[in-house]
Amino acid sequence: MKSRLFLAAASLLLLGSCASDAPQDALDPAGRYARLTDDLFRPVFWVAVAVFVLVEVLIVLAVVKGRRKPGDLDEDLPPQIHGNTRLELGWTFLPALILAGVAVFTVPVIFELNERPDDALEVTVRGAKYWWGYEYPEQAAFGIEGEGFETANELHIPAGTPVFLTLRSEDVIHSFWAPRLNGTRDVVPGRIHTWSLEADEPGVYSGQCKEFCGTSHANMRLKVVAHSQEDWEAWVERMSTDPEQPTSGLEAEGFELFAQKGCAGCHQVDGQYEEVADDAPYAPNLTHLFSRDCFAGCIYDLNDRNEVEAWLRNPQRKAGSLMVIGELTEDEIDRLYAYLRTLE
Ligand code: CUA
Repeated sequence: MKSRLFLAAASLLLLGSCASDAPQDALDPAGRYARLTDDLFRPVFWVAVAVFVLVEVLIVLAVVKGRRKPGDLDEDLPPQIHGNTRLELGWTFLPALILAGVAVFTVPVIFELNERPDDALEVTVRGAKYWWGYEYPEQAAFGIEGEGFETANELHIPAGTPVFLTLRSEDVIHSFWAPRLNGTRDVVPGRIHTWSLEADEPGVYSGQCKEFCGTSHANMRLKVVAHSQEDWEAWVERMSTDPEQPTSGLEAEGFELFAQKGCAGCHQVDGQYEEVADDAPYAPNLTHLFSRDCFAGCIYDLNDRNEVEAWLRNPQRKAGSLMVIGELTEDEIDRLYAYLRTLE
């Protein structure tokens, strides 16, 4: 029974590694930084395989050679040895040499990963329970003017350009990880960490929080959307233009409700609701909410109206969500949704 369980577990692990559609495959680097570590990992992996094979062969040899032979008596112990200077020196220096060899290639990469790249897009990443906020300060080189802008859950970047991140935490320790673009970097309260990303090609790269941070740690996902130059300019243009405030219909009623229900106390909407309460928890900026595909830590589909309504009915469907909203009638939900929909 036990051995069957073991076999099942082992084959599950083995089959699990065969996934062909693995959006967070750290062994499939999609940019310069991820490639730097991948180029280190592969040779080290094969060295480890060689060591593994050598050790296993020696174990099997020892077992076969040292076996009790037919006719051996219980008292017949094999020759007892103690101390072998040559062997001991060997197994001390050989691993030390291998590790030193690995270090020669690793150390420069560590420094390179921590360098601030030239001509990089700069973004401040704010980790919070349980989602990611992104601030884009003014950067003429990237078409970002004035005060810049802020978004959530989806980090948009131009493809083929280094991105320099400044990471801050709003509450506890999180860790930012987009496996195909770089390794992970901890996000620690009271500290400022930096990290870089780059994607060779336009595309969507999944990621997640990689440090246990509370009940919804597993629900703290993220997306990096890499754009072609043309799409990037269009995105910046869209983010730099405030949405129009609705003046009639359900949308306008929803706009009023947004303040009445206290949403505006935490959620900023540029050009409409700009003052959040001083003691409000950090909440996603909703200015261009519907320019995104996902919400609430990227676990729900924003294009699915049912998901948005379910969220408004009960934000606690995501455990530990800091969003507090009183009970809403279905009518109120319709009006709020109509207003949110104008935030493109
Ligand atoms: Cu944030 Cu885990």
